[in-house]
Amino acid sequence: MKKFAVFGNPIVQSLSPTIHQMFAKQCGEQISYEKILAPEDGFTPAANTFLSQPGAVGCNVTMPFKQDAFALASVDDQAALDAKAVNTLMKRSDGTIAGFNTDGVGLVNDLLNHGVQLQGKRVLLIGAGGAARGVIAPLIASGIASLHLTNRTKAKAETVASETGGGKVKVVGIEDCDKVAPHIIINSTAASLSETLPFDMNATLFKECETAYDMVYRAEPTYFMQQALSLGALQVLDGLGMLVEQAAASFTIWTGYKPKTSAVIDVLRSQLK
Ligand code: ATR
Repeated sequence: MKKFAVFGNPIVQSLSPTIHQMFAKQCGEQISYEKILAPEDGFTPAANTFLSQPGAVGCNVTMPFKQDAFALASVDDQAALDAKAVNTLMKRSDGTIAGFNTDGVGLVNDLLNHGVQLQGKRVLLIGAGGAARGVIAPLIASGIASLHLTNRTKAKAETVASETGGGKVKVVGIEDCDKVAPHIIINSTAASLSETLPFDMNATLFKECETAYDMVYRAEPTYFMQQALSLGALQVLDGLGMLVEQAAASFTIWTGYKPKTSAVIDVLRSQLK
């Protein structure tokens, strides 16, 4: 049986085993997929032990180990290089471990699934943490017209812009975001976890906004989504689809099989209620 796992600390909340078991069922594979709680300073030995088992194919990696996984892996994937973070590890036949970051592909695929046109669009990305870094390369590769990055701490946005996106990321101050007139606004900050907004948003920011996307998900629309809708966004989306799509991209890396995601998203959505 092929063996998979997700490493994190904490890990009890992870939906990854549920998602990957649904993918495996679709392709008639019997897999094991376990949650592994690694000590905060003990990711690398734990991952090496898991991956050295017979049958181990790969694993997912979540907070706070994505940087450790980047250090452990051999990485060619641009999104992972930009993020300096890896969420997917795969054992190669020569015993080395390849690392990928599928978060950004997950975001782009979720946007496309919702009929969002990316080609030629102005995108505003809010936040300059690991979540933002990981989505920059796939967003640029999707054919958008421009990518502006804004953050509460502007200096951090400037660092991210200089280290990612091949010079294509433009930093904009929070006070000037409305001048970008973005078609797509993506909130990658942790603000929604505390039911706050990343900054004081106004209707001018949303005058051309077709889609506002919050990477957080919960049973009800987040405060960011509610505000975006009332300020003029035509469509608001949460990050549940991104979660499933990033898992699907990992599953494809491991197995070559492209899972269908919409039924999986529906099951998880119904379980959030
Ligand atoms: P992650 O790796 O999940 O992206 P992170 O590296 O801690 O987490 O980054 C969190 C991001 O959310 C940062 O851009 C942070 O802004 P600062 O750089 O100014 O700290 C942003 N953030 C978190 N809480 C926020 C809040 N209440 N309002 C605005 N931005 C917030």
